[in-house]
Amino acid sequence: MAVTIKSAREIELMREAGRILAKVHEELGAAIRPGMSTLEIDELGEKLIRGYGCVPNFLHYNGYPASICVSVNEEVVHGIPRKHHILKEGDIVSLDAGLIYKGYHSDAARTHAVGQISAEAAKLIEVTRQSFFEGIKMAKSGNHLYDISAAIDAYVSQFGYGIVRDLVGHGIGTQLHEDPQIPNFAQKRKGVRLQAGMTLAIEPMINAGTYEVDWLDDGWTVVSRDRSLSAHYENTVLITDGEPEILTLL
Ligand code: MF3
Ligand code: CO
Repeated sequence: MAVTIKSAREIELMREAGRILAKVHEELGAAIRPGMSTLEIDELGEKLIRGYGCVPNFLHYNGYPASICVSVNEEVVHGIPRKHHILKEGDIVSLDAGLIYKGYHSDAARTHAVGQISAEAAKLIEVTRQSFFEGIKMAKSGNHLYDISAAIDAYVSQFGYGIVRDLVGHGIGTQLHEDPQIPNFAQKRKGVRLQAGMTLAIEPMINAGTYEVDWLDDGWTVVSRDRSLSAHYENTVLITDGEPEILTLL
């Protein structure tokens, strides 16, 4: 499938899908506290998404059983919300959420502190977030896709962290996952030329230790192989002829 270029009307719908998801993330982030179960986060997220008249796009995606991916500590992504998984002070929790508004998808992730966390954990969260902003400095028409990948890699590598390679960002629009795939590490090739109207979900997943990951027996949860902490930061972004527009931030 070729990379889709969105029309002005489609861009308006993507903007609204993104704006609503930004609000959902703010509300979820504000709700995080020790003692909460990961299932409660999912239930709140689904309620918020449906309350805005939208549909959670992760629910039943390839059989995924929830609306919000809730990944704690060494869990990288796709953690399954569970009633008996209780957040405790000092944990970090990655929330990945997405929704469909009038046929258009948005996708974004944030890693939050649960109460007071260690300086090491806070630094991992901040470097992961900043790596996204380093990447999108390159996200303008005329540049190439892997300029974004290289910028994320160059920034993160200074800290000695592991950049997850088995999972990547993606195009997004009428489908949650569209072409192109967007690795978070440097590539030998240049990748497609970026054009105004492309909408991309850019999502660095960064481990404090090794970049290698394992899949747990639940078939979904991805963990760092050395069980070191992992953080995730993602936004849906619109490529323009000038600065990129981050659709999932208010
Ligand atoms: N948010 C994930 C991504 O960025 C997709 C999660 S789909 C699910 O690509 F089924 F795992 F929830
Ligand atoms: Co995504």
